[in-house]
Amino acid sequence: MTILLATDFDSAEQRLWLELLQAALPDERFVSDRQAVDDATIDIAIVANPPPGALRGLANLRLIQSLWAGVDKLLGDPSVPPQVTIARMVDPAMNAAMAETALWAVLSLHRGFFTYAAQQRARHWQPLVQRRADEVAVAVLGLGQMGRAVALRLAAQGYRVSGWSARPAELASIHTHTGDDSLGPLLARTDLVVNLLPLTPATRGLLCARTFDAMPRGASLVNLARGAHVVDADLLAALDRGHLQHAVLDVFATEPLPADHRYWLHPNVTVLPHAAAQTDARSAAAVAAANVRRVRFGEPPQSLVDRRRGY
Ligand code: NAP
Ligand code: GLV
Repeated sequence: MTILLATDFDSAEQRLWLELLQAALPDERFVSDRQAVDDATIDIAIVANPPPGALRGLANLRLIQSLWAGVDKLLGDPSVPPQVTIARMVDPAMNAAMAETALWAVLSLHRGFFTYAAQQRARHWQPLVQRRADEVAVAVLGLGQMGRAVALRLAAQGYRVSGWSARPAELASIHTHTGDDSLGPLLARTDLVVNLLPLTPATRGLLCARTFDAMPRGASLVNLARGAHVVDADLLAALDRGHLQHAVLDVFATEPLPADHRYWLHPNVTVLPHAAAQTDARSAAAVAAANVRRVRFGEPPQSLVDRRRGY
């Protein structure tokens, strides 16, 4: 049988992945060009943002292993065979990278480091009032692989951390909240919101005027999940009128962020190029290989996507 690597990688990245996967699974046959083999031999696909239609008609596919944690694009492609098991990337190395990014963003907002950077550009000397970490309330939306790692790292740093999830969750030293009705009251007592939700029909556009209005004046947003969680016009309006103080945005509805987008030059927006937690080929190839081995041994693969929930 054959494993198809279907990605939007450039040729160097594609070669690196093929080398790492082949080294981890020396007995497997990999192809990155579907035309190179008979479709009937392809039973596993390892994918990273494949072009829509890349998996269409693969009748013998048994596993789609995503190299991305978020599978919203994959699930949005109607040509992905509906009966096939999808596993997503769950890699402690990615969770650790996400926790680092969230810590940097929260620390920078709490201590005013984005303001100091702007002051430096204006040659303006102005120390800000210094708050303690335990005076800052942070809400982490999504308490999955990423959200939990982030919440625990922020709590270890001394922040007052709450978390929000679909189902009840327990996490030491984190105040957890569940369900739509709890979101408004949670946001009302939050200084910094960190978004780590998956993009689903229930979460698309969740960060909108209603959400921003629920947050106290002077609160800030850190979006590390997906651009389509945010209604951009509402966020810009909330920043422009000073209701929200700052937004750290790693992800955007259109990526790369178009050159003429207002976010680029907005004084209260910090833009990252979807780099909060990149898939690390060294560790992620091993995660993908382990799932392939499970399938070959007739065991269920890990980190399965629940298509009904959409994540
Ligand atoms: P995950 O393990 O599937 O966790 C998702 C969390 O969101 C779970 O706690 C889930 O609740 C919660 N949730 C889902 N729908 C909800 C709803 N309607 N209301 C309240 N809570 C809801 O996902 P993950 O691995 O942490 O990744 C999260 C997202 O991060 C990914 O989907 C991706 O979009 C993004 N991401 C971004 C980058 C980057 O570089 N920027 C890198 C990796 C991932 P339950 O626990 O109750 O199911
Ligand atoms: C990155 O955004 C991912 O979902 O892995």
